[in-house]
Amino acid sequence: MPVLPSVLIAPVRILPLHRGRAAGAKAASVTGGNGIVIRGLGPGDSLAALTDLLHRAYAELGAMGFNFTAVDQSEAVTARRIRGRECWVAFVDGRLVGTVTLSPRRPISLPPWRDGLSTAMINQLAVDPVMRGQGIGGRLLDVAEGRSRDLGFTSVSLDTAESAEHLVRLYLRRGYAAVAFHRWRGKTYRSVVLEKLFLPVPGGRGCLRPAIVRGEETA
Ligand SMILES: CC(C)(COP(=O)(O)OP(=O)(O)OC[C@H]1O[C@@H](n2cnc3c(N)ncnc32)[C@H](O)[C@@H]1OP(=O)(O)O)[C@@H](O)C(=O)NCCC(=O)NCCS
Repeated sequence: MPVLPSVLIAPVRILPLHRGRAAGAKAASVTGGNGIVIRGLGPGDSLAALTDLLHRAYAELGAMGFNFTAVDQSEAVTARRIRGRECWVAFVDGRLVGTVTLSPRRPISLPPWRDGLSTAMINQLAVDPVMRGQGIGGRLLDVAEGRSRDLGFTSVSLDTAESAEHLVRLYLRRGYAAVAFHRWRGKTYRSVVLEKLFLPVPGGRGCLRPAIVRGEETA
């Protein structure tokens, strides 16, 4: 009998759907293995706790000089940034340890980087600093990417500081490719937009990978 990869035979907890403040998060929830439960943010979840998690997770980026919004955003800004989007939250032993938000559209201020494709955007990916390196961030990305695919998007995208090399490398390893640069108003850094395509496209995928390495802008 063939041995299945452990991910396929790990127990999976499916939780009921929560229709929360973050519209969407329609899928029931995910996961299993090492006690992580990921589900949509529900009405009983605390925005203060979510904001506090974001602050703790993004503190290291703030210390590196990157003024990501999540470094110090208010609870009201957290509410605004999840409104009309899918906010997923990860728990271990009932404790909030991670989050990711999926937006069904590209922000208007972000120029389109490809014709004829629809993309969902990932924001506010965060894992509690004391819970890092246990696969929680990867699971959250799995959920956001899986949802994007299930919702019919042809790709999923995100942006990060181009000089946050550990993050750029993480996304490249997961199959994202750099497709554009953008400078958000008020930010200390230039962002690189990374996209993960679900379908092959003529002309191939991301064209900026060598530029990331050289630190040049080619598009
Ligand atoms: C990025 C983040 C969400 C990853 O969460 P995590 O639970 O530690 O991630 P995982 O354990 O699933 O590991 C994911 C990958 O990151 C790598 N990684 C984990 N911790 C790392 C670290 N301290 N430095 C470099 N890489 C690291 C892992 O090796 C893994 O790579 P692989 O999939 O190729 O093996 C988390 O570090 C975080 O919250 N960082 C601060 C906020 C942030 O940077 N958000 C993203 C902004 S664009």
